[in-house]
Amino acid sequence: QTIYRKDYTAPSYLVDTVELGFDLDPARTVVANRMTVRRNPASAQREIELYGEDIELVTLRLNGRTLGEGDYVIEGTLLRIPNAPEEATLEIETICVPESNTTLSGLYTSNGSFYTQCEAEGFRRITYFPDRPDVMARFTVMLRADKDKYPVLLSNGNLIEEGDLDNGRHYALWEDPFKKPSYLFALVAARLVCQEENFELADGRTALLQVWVEEGNLDKTDYAMQSLKHSIRWDEERWNLELDLDRFMIVAVGDFNMGAMENKGLNIFNTKFVLANPRVATDVDFQGIEAVVGHEYFHNWTGNRVTCRDWFQLSLKEGLTVFRDQEFSADMIGTNTGRAVTRIDQVRTLRQAQFPEDAGPMAHPVRPDSFVEINNFYTVTVYEKGAEVVRMYQTLLGRDGFRKGMDLYFQRHDEQAVTCDDFRLAMADANGRDLTQFERWYSQAGTPVVQAETRWDEQAQTYTLRLVQSCPPTPGQAEKLPFHIPVAIGLLGRDGRDLPLTVDGKVHGKDGATTAVLELTEADQTFVFTGVTEQPTPSILRDFSAPVILKHGYSDAELVHLFSHDSDPVNRWEAGQRLAMSRLLKLAGQVAAAGNVVDRLDLDDTFVDAMRKILVDDTLDPSFREQALLLPTESMIADQLDVVDPLAIHLARQFVRADIGARLRTELLAQYDANQTPGEYSPDAESIGKRALKNLALAYLNAAPDEASLALAQKQFDGATNMTDRVAALSALVHARAPAAADALQRFYDEFQGEALVVDKWFAMQAAAPTTDVARVRELMTHKAFTLRNPNRARSLVSTFCAGNAVGFHAPDGSGYGFWAEQVIALDALNPQVASRLARAMDRWRRYTPDLQAHMKRALQQVAGQAKLSNDVREVVSKALAN
Ligand code: ARG
Ligand code: ZN
Repeated sequence: QTIYRKDYTAPSYLVDTVELGFDLDPARTVVANRMTVRRNPASAQREIELYGEDIELVTLRLNGRTLGEGDYVIEGTLLRIPNAPEEATLEIETICVPESNTTLSGLYTSNGSFYTQCEAEGFRRITYFPDRPDVMARFTVMLRADKDKYPVLLSNGNLIEEGDLDNGRHYALWEDPFKKPSYLFALVAARLVCQEENFELADGRTALLQVWVEEGNLDKTDYAMQSLKHSIRWDEERWNLELDLDRFMIVAVGDFNMGAMENKGLNIFNTKFVLANPRVATDVDFQGIEAVVGHEYFHNWTGNRVTCRDWFQLSLKEGLTVFRDQEFSADMIGTNTGRAVTRIDQVRTLRQAQFPEDAGPMAHPVRPDSFVEINNFYTVTVYEKGAEVVRMYQTLLGRDGFRKGMDLYFQRHDEQAVTCDDFRLAMADANGRDLTQFERWYSQAGTPVVQAETRWDEQAQTYTLRLVQSCPPTPGQAEKLPFHIPVAIGLLGRDGRDLPLTVDGKVHGKDGATTAVLELTEADQTFVFTGVTEQPTPSILRDFSAPVILKHGYSDAELVHLFSHDSDPVNRWEAGQRLAMSRLLKLAGQVAAAGNVVDRLDLDDTFVDAMRKILVDDTLDPSFREQALLLPTESMIADQLDVVDPLAIHLARQFVRADIGARLRTELLAQYDANQTPGEYSPDAESIGKRALKNLALAYLNAAPDEASLALAQKQFDGATNMTDRVAALSALVHARAPAAADALQRFYDEFQGEALVVDKWFAMQAAAPTTDVARVRELMTHKAFTLRNPNRARSLVSTFCAGNAVGFHAPDGSGYGFWAEQVIALDALNPQVASRLARAMDRWRRYTPDLQAHMKRALQQVAGQAKLSNDVREVVSKALAN
């Protein structure tokens, strides 16, 4: 059943207060819910509407009177009470079974303890309630449980009272001073320990900060705590937003569907985004923790204080909060190049995951118009493209203008449930601008294409830039209207420096700041630069100023010029990517034409020399050089082709890697040595950059390994004192198919078998290895450490193989797809959200070679043909088959 945005109606009843009483028992938890409700003056509806799912209704009382069968109607998940009075007290008792809740939505157990996940619609799995984000209520929560098994009892807000009960049980009473939608409710009842500290806020108050983990993990909480303190400071300093509670808790749980959840005052996290120390976590893990701790903390204002009117507005909070965590991470690094490297990373994510989504069967606008299952719309489009949309406001309005818009947004909407339009209007009104056309970024799906043509007129000393925009059709949207696109541009002179810019009479950058932000609003628009005394090289879409595909007929010479000199690091990187992509596409074509045999391939000196120059340029940050030397991924290459042959792409890319490894051997070795980080491990940006470049050098050297390169990897593996260097060495050995790889893998497992997150890495590394086929994955699934029930573990092996090992997954006999169907079906019976993510590995099946397509279609049909399937998986596979 499809739900449409246009069908939104206001809630019939509002809830003022909710008192919840939990008698926690894994096999039979009794939930008592007393709420005061009153008719919503904004609604004509006269029935009370409550949702409930997978819970047993014991009693339902209205103003003290027990309601019988005739007094209410239950249809599916909806419970309606007709002829309800203006105001009422509802008392509802229900029973749920946390230990058999494998969906990890609602109240569930993990390693014997209780946790909740209520976003988007999990609260209805705990009690009957108007479970929609525009119903905001004040919550009081009484928790009762066995004291021995569950010594820690947590919920949102402030702890009011705690004490002992009979029979070895105890209780805790929590009160949240802020009204909130039900999706922000949380409780934890567990055997946990915490790192805690009192932290002084900007206004002089102190708040108690806690990071709760299972015993044995207290040696992995420092970084999360530090990230939390940085987040609080940053929100104060950059946005003048303060922590509004006396207590802020983070809890880590090993079984969790997503990354983390911003429950008011009680953030619940996947252990992956809390636990870290140098022995078990990589640089990327540390960066992930900082970003996600920030993200969830920032939701306290963008999501909790101001929340969403309905789930179609999800990007209102997610796009904005991703933008905020991106800015936080960039500010934490502080340097210009550091910022740029975070930006490059964001562009890679968009191209790797969002552009394909925008071009596939699940394409949807940042603010979707319809959905079957809302959990399917926690997507890169809503999150990352949504963040790009927010970033474009800042690019168009400037930092100060954007800040004014944010201030007005909070002034207008604090403690309200609002829409993406409300946010846009705050931005427009605070700046006296008309942002009507900008709305199309929310309503139109698909990635816009901007085609640029340039002409220098030597006589007139003018430079003309013509920009033509278009956007391909997406499911349900055949025609698109022009977007309002900020196009940041600079012009490079022959010496590589930026030329002064005067465009359409307006002078930009009097003193060297030579980037202009053009506003492309028409389908076809021309901009004229004056006083251009030489033929420039255009640097278009600087800092990736809009989430579009830019097409321009750059020559190799122009790209090399940009790659060597562009003052904008993002476009400098981009020039290298364009050089690499043209080679990769050509080579992939040659490999395919030769029947997937690598024979007589050649990589030109122009490209290899350009790479060499960047590699050895010590004036550039190692972190930037690492990004510049990374080739576009196989899936980015595939995205450029109408017919995808994954093996040809893989072989071509491997050839390029091996050729670079061989031809730049001396330089790579020198950088390997020059970028060592001796001494105590530290996850600061500079050290991370050095390790990244050093380990990329190791990977290139082992792409066409000689004895010395293999020995280098082995030496690094044996001597590593941190997980970053250890996994880099191990993966170099595995990908080089080194004879020593098997032994190294075994030693790695033996040493880290007690660390679940490291065991995930161990599975993932093998799942991604080009030598791994379906048979090997099946064998790994019989390993004693494997289980489909834990989302991290299932993803580490099954999803990594299906979405991250093109060669193995796309085996010509279709065996990978058969395996996929089997696992989607098996997972769906346990956890539809995890199953549905895996289901999306087939999204782009129509683009593969005819033989592969036929196999893929059969696998999709096999899943779609299941009688019993969740809404989650059914929506994904039926859209794939239909579009
Ligand atoms: N709001 C959470 C976050 O961004 C994501 C929770 C999504 N959960 C879900 N089951 N769809 O950080
Ligand atoms: Zn979020």
